[in-house]
Amino acid sequence: MRIILDCDPGHDDAFAILLSVASKEIELLGVTTVVGNSYLENTTKNARTVLDLFDIDVPVFAGCDKPLFRNVIVAPDIHGKSGLEGAQLPPAKRPIERLHAVDFIAQTLEKYSDVVLVPTGPLTNIALFMIRYPHLIKRIALIVLMGGGIAFGNVTPAAEFNIFADPEAAKIVFQSGVPIVMAPLDVTHQVVVTEEEVRKMRLLGAKFDLLADLLVFFKSTYKRVFGIEGVPLHDPCTVMYLIHPEIFETKDYHVDVETKGELTYGQTVVDVWRTTGKTLNAKVMLRADRMRFFDLFFEKLSQLREA
Ligand code: BDR
Ligand code: CA
Repeated sequence: MRIILDCDPGHDDAFAILLSVASKEIELLGVTTVVGNSYLENTTKNARTVLDLFDIDVPVFAGCDKPLFRNVIVAPDIHGKSGLEGAQLPPAKRPIERLHAVDFIAQTLEKYSDVVLVPTGPLTNIALFMIRYPHLIKRIALIVLMGGGIAFGNVTPAAEFNIFADPEAAKIVFQSGVPIVMAPLDVTHQVVVTEEEVRKMRLLGAKFDLLADLLVFFKSTYKRVFGIEGVPLHDPCTVMYLIHPEIFETKDYHVDVETKGELTYGQTVVDVWRTTGKTLNAKVMLRADRMRFFDLFFEKLSQLREA
């Protein structure tokens, strides 16, 4: 399965990248980056560092450095200043491709008709692609995204970070007619990393020690900001869904995005009881089998040991 991972690394984004590379079911055609957890320069550097760490030869394309209409917001409280604090990572060596992320997505979709887009950051690149290349929207086979929430947000009581950072972009994507699978906070908060997963990560070897350090940092910020012990591994839920959908329970809903609300700005409004009668536009993950998730996660990541 061919995918493009559109991300803002970001601790959990880094693991989404590695899980996709470690899964033989997936062909990662490129990593595209966007401003989100940190500024574009940092998220692009972090994506390259993560690939370099395991000598993975996948091109990295930088995308949008600001949301479609709004001011930039970043998340240093959660991911640190660089977006990927907590480990002594080597400097990024691989080049940044010359093509803009949005043009790379377009060229790839012109070439292949089975490409899955996997956004794990704000949806700015994907929306801009849709604005710029409307004739190619139909070429997207599927979008599997991390974003939004049914019951709660994490930036405001109503809004999750990826949607809050660029709600207009998210609205364009949800209204695009492309089949969407959504991993909201409701499911990602079932996939929490505890001390046990940190220990297991260290057992895999030296490079994984650095990854464990990242998890320790990520855990500590969640403890400080949200007061919870385990940290949700949000973004890898997307990739895991692609390789093992059976470990997730899903339901089809109509999902829209609030772009004006005084209290609800950036909320994904999920029509659970189908009160609007509007077309079901997203398959929403509701439950995950946590044990299976981590068994598979470590089974896959251990494939990177030879690299
Ligand atoms: C999302 O926001 C970022 O902090 C994470 O990388 C994830 O994509 C969770 O709200
Ligand atoms: Ca992310």
